[in-house]
Amino acid sequence: MTSPRAVALSLAGALAACGGAEPSDPPAAQAPASFVAFARDFEGFESWAAFPLGPGTPAVGEIEGPRTVFASRLPAPGEAALPVGTKLVKVIGDGPVETRQVFAMAKRGGDYNAFGAKGWEWFELTRDARGAVSVDWRGVSPPDGTAYGTNLRGGACNECHVEQGAATDAVLTPGVAPTGR
Ligand code: HEC
Repeated sequence: MTSPRAVALSLAGALAACGGAEPSDPPAAQAPASFVAFARDFEGFESWAAFPLGPGTPAVGEIEGPRTVFASRLPAPGEAALPVGTKLVKVIGDGPVETRQVFAMAKRGGDYNAFGAKGWEWFELTRDARGAVSVDWRGVSPPDGTAYGTNLRGGACNECHVEQGAATDAVLTPGVAPTGR
């Protein structure tokens, strides 16, 4: 007869082996549990899949100009969420590279930004004249003093992306946003 303690231990072992990932979810199983992006992870983003969107109506704090979204990874058919490690960049403007506005989001995973765009970290980046990337700010919301307005759900970026992206993992660009279909 197996002791209750042995059962508890083997149960703990089974849970640890499973790692919390759903076996039926290959992208999540292959992706790392968490991912913290640095400037170097965005270097060369212009070579990622590009989605030119033309000029839009600037949101609070946005400059005017055509916008292009770049994706380090595109959603696979049937995927309802992008995996940890995915990086998305939105560039506004067509002036000299260092004058363009560059927003980004990276799938950090876990409970990061749990009350906003779950798992996503927000960034604003700058490029120098040669295109080298630096991080202006990062986090669950823009820092105080930036021009992006205030807060529902703890941050101006979450505000639109959670509302409009409820069914698409907080991603809003058609073709980049996973739809689960
Ligand atoms: C007023 C609503 C609104 C706010 C606020 C907003 N976004 Fe977006 N964002 C959009 C829309 C709409 C798109 C789709 C592309 C487009 O039309 O510009 C987008 C696209 C993006 C993308 C490309 C990936 C995607 O979701 O399509 C990134 C990256 C991004 N936004 C970052 C940010 C960051 C960082 C902030 C906060 C500083 C922010 N956004 C605030 C509406 C918003």
